Amino acid sequence: MKVIVVENYAEVSAEAFKVMHELVASKPNAVLGLATGSSPIGLYENMIKDHKENGTSYAECQSFNLDEYVGIDRNHEQSYYTFMHENLFNGIDIKEENVHLPYGNTKEDCEAYERSMDNVTVDIQVLGIGSNGHIGFNEPGTSFDEETHIVTLKEGTRKDNARFFENDINKVPTHAITMGIATIMKAKKILLVATGANKADAVSAMVDGPVSVDCPASVLQNHPDVVVIVDKAAASKL
Ligand code: GLP
Repeated sequence: MKVIVVENYAEVSAEAFKVMHELVASKPNAVLGLATGSSPIGLYENMIKDHKENGTSYAECQSFNLDEYVGIDRNHEQSYYTFMHENLFNGIDIKEENVHLPYGNTKEDCEAYERSMDNVTVDIQVLGIGSNGHIGFNEPGTSFDEETHIVTLKEGTRKDNARFFENDINKVPTHAITMGIATIMKAKKILLVATGANKADAVSAMVDGPVSVDCPASVLQNHPDVVVIVDKAAASKL
């Protein structure tokens, strides 16, 4: 696991963009594993700027997102489908038919998403990390063998995300569909970004803690190619 510590969010985003750009420049048909949350927004802004200014094209790329809430429509303003279009897809030239996000709440929906990835290998999986160490929506306690599945969100995660739902935890969905840890670990490369003091415990457990379901992100210690880019605050307990 390579850990890069920089000053602030802007530098995290710039470093993450370098990693992403190196891939897309050398492999125009790269398969991108994408994440939502506030952490990767700066990376996506850099991708949009570079696409507009330098013409880097995503027309041959495919993307697969990590997760989606259950129980809200795809067109809801806080769905991850909406988030990805607003924060990335509408600003680059990726084709709508090449973007994939999980959706639904049944076993069949989970299997269908997993099967849609059967014939591809994700070249780079972008990840954020929850303050409890979750990746995607794989909460503490999730088996490392799980593929795409439906999860019940922990209260802490719903509290963290209430800021997107008028600060009202009751408006935050209780369930989500997420790639499992086994799905995430199949990616060739993992790029995890985190900033802020509220991520310091999770980052420390991920990097230095035992590999344990108590901190889902600790599984990344077993992956051969992980780049973690954090600011000083998130690195403060390393
Ligand atoms: C959400 C997402 C995760 C994300 C995490 C951290 O729950 N499902 O994919 O990494 O929260 O979000 P943020 O980057 O906003 O702190």
